[in-house]
Amino acid sequence: MKVTFYGIGYVGLVQATVLADAGHDVCCVDIDETRINNLKKGIIPIYEPGLTPLVEKNFAEGRLTFTTDAQFGVEFGDLQFIAVGTPPDEDGSADLQYVLKVAETIATHMTTAKVIVDKSTVPVGTADKVMATVQSVLDAKSSDLTFSVVSNPEFLKEGAAVNDCKRPDRIIIGTDSAVAEEFMRELYAPFNRNHEKIIVMDIKSAELTKYAANCMLATKISFMNEMANIAERVGADIEHVRHGIGSDPRIGYQFIYPGCGYGGSCFPKDVQALVRTADNIGYESKILKAVEAVNYAQKHKLFAYISKHFDLATNPNALQGKTFAVWGLSFKPNTDDMREAPSRVLMEQLWAAGAKVQAYDPEAMEETQRIYGSRSDLSLMGTKESALNNADALIICTEWQSFRAPDFARIKEQLSEAVIFDGRNLYEPERMSSKAIQYYSIGRGLSIAEA
Ligand code: UDX
Repeated sequence: MKVTFYGIGYVGLVQATVLADAGHDVCCVDIDETRINNLKKGIIPIYEPGLTPLVEKNFAEGRLTFTTDAQFGVEFGDLQFIAVGTPPDEDGSADLQYVLKVAETIATHMTTAKVIVDKSTVPVGTADKVMATVQSVLDAKSSDLTFSVVSNPEFLKEGAAVNDCKRPDRIIIGTDSAVAEEFMRELYAPFNRNHEKIIVMDIKSAELTKYAANCMLATKISFMNEMANIAERVGADIEHVRHGIGSDPRIGYQFIYPGCGYGGSCFPKDVQALVRTADNIGYESKILKAVEAVNYAQKHKLFAYISKHFDLATNPNALQGKTFAVWGLSFKPNTDDMREAPSRVLMEQLWAAGAKVQAYDPEAMEETQRIYGSRSDLSLMGTKESALNNADALIICTEWQSFRAPDFARIKEQLSEAVIFDGRNLYEPERMSSKAIQYYSIGRGLSIAEA
């Protein structure tokens, strides 16, 4: 099939490439000329395992093309995928200007019937807006061309996106058109093996499914973080509680890891957007507001431990001149994405208190440099060991595999004080205390005892 994607960001690039790899002809359109030229040279704008060779192969074999020429893109695909960004507005609602701009572009240039697919995460009701936008441009041209709009949300996880795309759990198709449904079924046929993964529903239900999924997952995390906060106050260990409840298949082990808060480009934005959607229709989402509030507090938790440990209440200048080693900057492992990362909240609090940061991340160093530029209170270190050089304490913000079994003797040797603030519960508190390392972690009795 012939498919056009608008917006070659994260979602667009991964989905377009995987569809090309399955044999479809895919044209990728983006307004960013540098990005398009780079892609033609095999320079991929994001870090995603397995993506680069797949882009190179499908580009070389001619199934994947890149262009800034929107008119060409409109003519190319029977299916027109909108995968541009929907950044949050100042009030937290999704900004649809880019989505609607693409709808307008498609309508302006179309000369045959098109199926327009919303792939971007868009609020309930967006398909109606896309339809109205396209129709008004066609009306202005006195065109009687037909089109349909489909909602086809993505469920990719960063770091596993290629695999998620190749082997989806489900393929949600929201449409009221039998023709569009047929197109979508044919498009996804290569991925609909072993068992039926395609779930067809009306457009609004498909739009809400995406938000409901992410908000449910964010709720699980904030719930566990709340349990962690209770656990440490009653002297329980949340890691035992996690095992205990996860063994119930109705609860399950996934997404119940407590930590220093969820980040990324999806959960914070989608929770906020659904809160806003509900508010706009006169319904207050008490649960989602609480999910956000708990996450906000959780992102400040490591600094709260640090404040207690260094007794900032008595001496507000206690962190001035101190240096903290920070391991892990990306919002989760296997990505260089720093959007809404807990590490940012932490580092900004440390800087505000006059401390210095020596940071290390296996992938996100360039991104950190891009965000913060050169500043005297941030040193980006080449290894996790060098980040410890003459530091006063170690802080862990992301659970990269390479942080799980460090040389504790070396950590003790290099830090001026043997203390670790761990936002991801990587180590056993008992082991740390047997090594005479003060260990603050999330939701475990020992951390509050020492805090
Ligand atoms: C998420 C959804 O998982 C995906 O289905 C959707 O399409 C996009 O949003 P992503 O943002 O890539 O994907 O990351 P994910 O792996 O879900 O992690 C999100 C955040 O939650 C991270 O900050 C992670 O550290 C945190 N998290 C996750 C926890 O704190 N505890 C957990 O148990 C799981």
